[in-house]
Amino acid sequence: MISVILGTQWGDEAKGKLTDYYASKADITVRFQGGNNAGHTIVVGDETFKLRLLSSGVVQGKDVVMGNGMVIDPQILLEEIGELRSRNVEIGNIYISERAHVIMPYHKQEDEILEELKGNQKAGTTKRGIGPCYSDKVSRLGIRFVDLIDEPVFREKLKIVYGIKKKFFESLGHEMEYTMEQILAQYGAYAEAIRGYVADTTVLLNEAERSGKRILMEGAQATHLDIDFGIYPFNTSSNTICGGVCTGSGVPPRSIGTVLGIVKAYTTRVGTGPVPTELTDAYGQHMAEKGHEYGTVTGRPRRCGWLDLMLVKYSHMLNHLDGVFVTKLDVLNGLDRVKVCVGYEVDGKHVDHFPSNMGVFARCIPIYKEFKGWDFDTDKILLEGIGSLPKEAKDYLSFIESELEIPLFGVSIGPKRSQTLILRDIF
Ligand code: GDP
Ligand code: IMO
Ligand code: MG
Repeated sequence: MISVILGTQWGDEAKGKLTDYYASKADITVRFQGGNNAGHTIVVGDETFKLRLLSSGVVQGKDVVMGNGMVIDPQILLEEIGELRSRNVEIGNIYISERAHVIMPYHKQEDEILEELKGNQKAGTTKRGIGPCYSDKVSRLGIRFVDLIDEPVFREKLKIVYGIKKKFFESLGHEMEYTMEQILAQYGAYAEAIRGYVADTTVLLNEAERSGKRILMEGAQATHLDIDFGIYPFNTSSNTICGGVCTGSGVPPRSIGTVLGIVKAYTTRVGTGPVPTELTDAYGQHMAEKGHEYGTVTGRPRRCGWLDLMLVKYSHMLNHLDGVFVTKLDVLNGLDRVKVCVGYEVDGKHVDHFPSNMGVFARCIPIYKEFKGWDFDTDKILLEGIGSLPKEAKDYLSFIESELEIPLFGVSIGPKRSQTLILRDIF
């Protein structure tokens, strides 16, 4: 049985929190795309975990898989495992796909160089080498984990790629930051440390699924950062939508059961590109401050705005969501009014479908529906249940449900695992 958790906006919807929550019923949790551009936060009691590569199920001691669709920086992975161990987390089995791609030092350098050169086309990347690693995968210049742990193959591939990168960097006026010998030594050591985790995760997941195990797929980034359907070129380099589950882990489409979309109660965006509902006034400041909207990976302030249902509806179309989980509802506490974008207008004309032309998207003016604000006490609601939410907050949630025509699976009203109101299970 396979269930999927996906971000429906621009990331940081609290996918990590919900994956950790629902992981209690799962046997295995899986990351199927992205790399350490992700930052997933899990808060259990007084402890906070910020995961970048391992699936959030690791905190509950579940077996975790890093699928073939991922790009993995071995240094960050080893640091993450080391940190969890030092904090006495009982880690289950970790499996890295043989086919996942390795982020190399030159990918990080290339990310820096290209961002610098791209001018107003830059995405404001996390500079973790994500885009260049995926480019090399598609150009068939990539190094996979199965190559990394096979020393002669690794040496041979690196020699060719290093030569190409050197010429490319020099043509742009840059020297390679590392020599080939340095990379061979450093990555040789990573290979030894990681060898035991590398496996054929596609066979493992398919066999687990056939034997009735519960598998939870944890999306990173979100639909509007998808390489095909996100706001190109201000997006990431992987398929973040539900289709990415299949290509990024090797499970067939028909094996997927529930698909849950995570919807932050407002909009946030790290990086560049248009954000139609962005607020630069006191309402935006309220969201940034109460929601602690600073990037988990880079610490950059996240841009905030009203909930944009145009984004979420498009996500629903692409992912066929079975339901939504609304998060960070508490952050809107204390506002006199709350708005939701229900459509766009360009040059006075209604926009029917989400635009692919960035020039058009940049000129989209949101059409809003306004709601009365609310202010609830999180502890009281947790004690008395979801039914005791103020009428105004319930109206807001019902509106989201009715606009999307799918049920609410629950509401998150605080960062802690315990601050979660559940209506439906994912398995
Ligand atoms: P992810 O990338 O989708 O996993 O989300 P992040 O972890 O990057 O960002 C979500 C942030 O909001 C984290 O700091 C969470 O601890 C926090 N958070 C999650 N759910 C809630 C909530 O319901 N209320 C509040 N106030 N914070 C939340
Ligand atoms: P999680 O999983 C929010 C954004 C970057 C940039 C663009 C491309 O925590 O939700 P990249 O480094 O991927 O080449 O950057 O994508 N971005 C994210 N924004 N949350 C994320 O992950 C993100 N991962 C990438 O800010 O605009
Ligand atoms: Mg995040």
